[in-house]
Amino acid sequence: MSKKINISVVGLGLMGAQHLKAILKSKKSNLHSIVDISDNAKKLSAKYKIQLHSNVSSLLNSKELDAVIVATPNRLHEKHTISLLRKKIPVLLEKPISDNIKSAKKIINIAEKNKTPLLIGYHRRHNSIVTEVKDIIKSGKLGKIISANILCWLYKHNKYFKEKWRISRGGGPLGINLVHDIDMISYLLGSIKYVQAFTTNKNRKFKVEDTATVNFIFDSGALCTLNISDTIVAPWSYELTAGENPVYPITNQSAYMIGGTKGSIQFPNLKYWFYKKERSWWKKIFFKNYTNKKDNNTLVNQINHFSDVVLKKVKPKVNGNDGLNSLKIFAAITKSAKTGKKIKI
Ligand SMILES: NC(=O)c1ccc[n+]([C@@H]2O[C@H](COP(=O)([O-])OP(=O)(O)OC[C@H]3O[C@@H](n4cnc5c(N)ncnc54)[C@H](O)[C@@H]3O)[C@@H](O)[C@H]2O)c1
Repeated sequence: MSKKINISVVGLGLMGAQHLKAILKSKKSNLHSIVDISDNAKKLSAKYKIQLHSNVSSLLNSKELDAVIVATPNRLHEKHTISLLRKKIPVLLEKPISDNIKSAKKIINIAEKNKTPLLIGYHRRHNSIVTEVKDIIKSGKLGKIISANILCWLYKHNKYFKEKWRISRGGGPLGINLVHDIDMISYLLGSIKYVQAFTTNKNRKFKVEDTATVNFIFDSGALCTLNISDTIVAPWSYELTAGENPVYPITNQSAYMIGGTKGSIQFPNLKYWFYKKERSWWKKIFFKNYTNKKDNNTLVNQINHFSDVVLKKVKPKVNGNDGLNSLKIFAAITKSAKTGKKIKI
């Protein structure tokens, strides 16, 4: 068996704490240390009897460190990631890659210059359901892809907004949730050519949006609509349907529909709809359930993949340019919502 990778986690908030648990579950990694200044980090350090550093410079002086997960607020991604990459330490960087495009490009350049792996934390790509959908699309079962429909409606508790950065630029549902959907739909359907969007903050009244509708046109000519809100009580979002994370009780609904000339697929429920003979709305439409085994190990799968990346066995499934792509589309959505114009990517 290969060597276990010693991973440190920088930023032990909501997401960092999940990574910590995933490292402990993975057979390919050890928890090296944690880096944070919060009281919660002190508690975690005592609970897991693990080294605690108060900053990344102090971490860089420690021994036997193989790789780092950066899960700090978006505005700190550049500073933290660059200091690690300069020391040739591979990084799993939480999404979005950064809070602006210039900084994202800088991170990518420094990773390339130092020939050091950078994996972006779009963990849904490590879900076996998503791999299955990709295979179904590739197999031609859907025919030519014509359109897709994505719903991301969920209700965030008021407590969630106590962190100021969640109500400041980039902290709304477009920056937090939709970037995952952008990454996933780009992975499944290819490059996005145009976007157009509308946003509103009329319910929560924060500076950031609480609701948005977005239209995409892909290079292939396929269309997609995406409807997102953090202030609607509803069961239809990837979070509440995929069963990836136990903090979101599962609803057994679907959030994605992708349709083509021969059939359509809804997922995470993995229901494939098709006609047996003639394709016509006057005929009975059939469905087949694909495996639909909920994959709740996505974060562990991601750590396993990261460990293989660190050992240079595989290339990152989600690289810096994928991170930049979703950030560019996010920026175009924001611009379109402001100007009312259709934006070319
Ligand atoms: N992949 C996902 O599904 C997902 C989900 C939520 C958040 N995220 C991403 O994870 C990152 C963190 O989000 P969160 O919701 O966990 O935020 P959070 O506010 O809950 O946690 C951030 C943590 O970083 C720590 N921190 C702040 N400054 C620091 C510094 N200089 N050095 C070390 N630690 C520092 C804070 O004390 C806090 O513990 C963001 O980039 C966010 O977009 C990803």
